[in-house]
Amino acid sequence: MSDEKKKELRSRHWYGGTDKDGFIHRSWMKNQGFPDHVFDGRPIIGICNTWSELTPCNSHLRILAEGVKRGVWEAGGFPVEFPVSSLGETQMRPTAMLFRNLLAMDVEEAIRAYGIDGVVLLGGCDKTTPGQLMGAASVDLPTIVVSSGPMLNGKWKGKDIGSGTDVWKFSEDVRAGKMSLQEFMAAESGMSRSPGVCMTMGTATTMASVVEAMGLSLPTNAALPAVDARRMALSHMTGKRIVQMVHEDLRLSKLLTKKNFENGIIANAAVGGSTNAVVHLLAIAGRAGVDLTLDDFDRVGGQVPCIVNCMPSGKYLIEDLAYAGGLPAVMNRIQHLLHADAPTVFGGPISDYWRDAEVYNDDVIRPLDNPLRERAGIRVLRGNLAPNGAVIKPSAASEHLLAHEGPAFVFETIEELREKIDDPNLPVTKDTILVLKGCGPKGYPGMAEVGNMPIPRRLVEQGVRDMVRISDARMSGTAFGTVVLHVSPEANAGGPLAIVRTGDRIRLDAMKGELSLLIGEEEFSARMAAWQPPEQKWTRGYYKLYHDTVLQADKGADLDFLVGASGSEVLRESH
Ligand code: FES
Repeated sequence: MSDEKKKELRSRHWYGGTDKDGFIHRSWMKNQGFPDHVFDGRPIIGICNTWSELTPCNSHLRILAEGVKRGVWEAGGFPVEFPVSSLGETQMRPTAMLFRNLLAMDVEEAIRAYGIDGVVLLGGCDKTTPGQLMGAASVDLPTIVVSSGPMLNGKWKGKDIGSGTDVWKFSEDVRAGKMSLQEFMAAESGMSRSPGVCMTMGTATTMASVVEAMGLSLPTNAALPAVDARRMALSHMTGKRIVQMVHEDLRLSKLLTKKNFENGIIANAAVGGSTNAVVHLLAIAGRAGVDLTLDDFDRVGGQVPCIVNCMPSGKYLIEDLAYAGGLPAVMNRIQHLLHADAPTVFGGPISDYWRDAEVYNDDVIRPLDNPLRERAGIRVLRGNLAPNGAVIKPSAASEHLLAHEGPAFVFETIEELREKIDDPNLPVTKDTILVLKGCGPKGYPGMAEVGNMPIPRRLVEQGVRDMVRISDARMSGTAFGTVVLHVSPEANAGGPLAIVRTGDRIRLDAMKGELSLLIGEEEFSARMAAWQPPEQKWTRGYYKLYHDTVLQADKGADLDFLVGASGSEVLRESH
């Protein structure tokens, strides 16, 4: 590397000077035992770590950070690990999604404020991957992702059990009297047996798959188990690569093209990925200035078959997907659908990721002539009930309910649902459509994963396992059912969901993209005119900032003032 090139590095503005500021920046770093020569102009690589013991899915990320460091040193860089806030999906109340944008702010400002030249994002649990990418996109340094990787397959009573998916099944079995409480409690320990993220195709592996298909990580990043030694090797190789990316000035904006996003949408459909990918990709695109809309998910992903036979759509787990060939093998099978020339962290085309990939188990990664489901991409629904759109995941729904008309039973709040759902006299049948309000971005707040409402107990006892459910909430990527989500605008923002009453008829036609409230136009207008916004409960702190500025689901639920980018320049010194 020439001296001229060294001077171009951003970190030189912190560590290259011979004045008071240079002294201060270097001297305090030297208290960690770093010798003089590491400040010689080599690339400084930030390792942005969402490690936390309260985010169990990311609890091993300090170990993977050591792997990244090995690679950075080997390639002639200087690695520095730093923490950002972490979001433990299963541990936070009211919902980790409330804090995704806060993490994104934290990541953005940390990357910009420190004297680093490139960044490795270490994340995995659902909201950490999108939060980190949103923040990084608003700064735009060379950036690469290392994901947590899935837990080992859950095991209980000699069977494989999957994170989340089997929790929902077991809890319904307990309510139906088919499983004892003792058995239910015993299954807990068998479900989560190692570090890593949910080992179903939940939101974490969905986002890791999308990231890999977008060329933002090394190949095989999505599915290798967290504790597989090859993930440590992948971390090492990622450390090597990010140093080269700095030399090549391969910034994130060069990889966040519309083609990369479309490849992410296609991969999401092919793996049977989570509906949460919709809000996250829209939010990342908003940061990157890419014109991605809800309709792109229908247009690009709607016709894509689901070929990955993993829970919740299928029967296997992510460890099985890794051994069957992982994402490179999946991409190989759907290569005719992907943009082969989309750029990657290597600078070359994404087709390099699948060129030599093979499928080792045709039941886990199905051939195209035997998919798990045809036309499995997330469908966007519109109609007078969701003027700005809603989504449904056909691969996790019941085929016979995808076109359905029935009377609504409305829960005005999540508390009302919890209170009434097990009432033996609840006036519902298997044809009733359950409607839940007040769970959108502003309403909950944070758009919680409560859209897969429990089936009323009296119906569970009759053997009913699925019903049409509609809300402004999200749903866990590990969940299943004929569940209409992300209704926009949400009820608390005055969307038509707010005016639905028990007994109103609703029509859903998922494959035609329709969601309609079947009341007369006059009645519809009268109810809308009479709607009053609910009292604002949040008067201070982050809750208030979030409530007052959050965008609706069809725009990615980012905060309105965070859309876009501010670059990496910081003109003023601190002393
Ligand atoms: Fe962290 Fe599922 S709860 S990945």
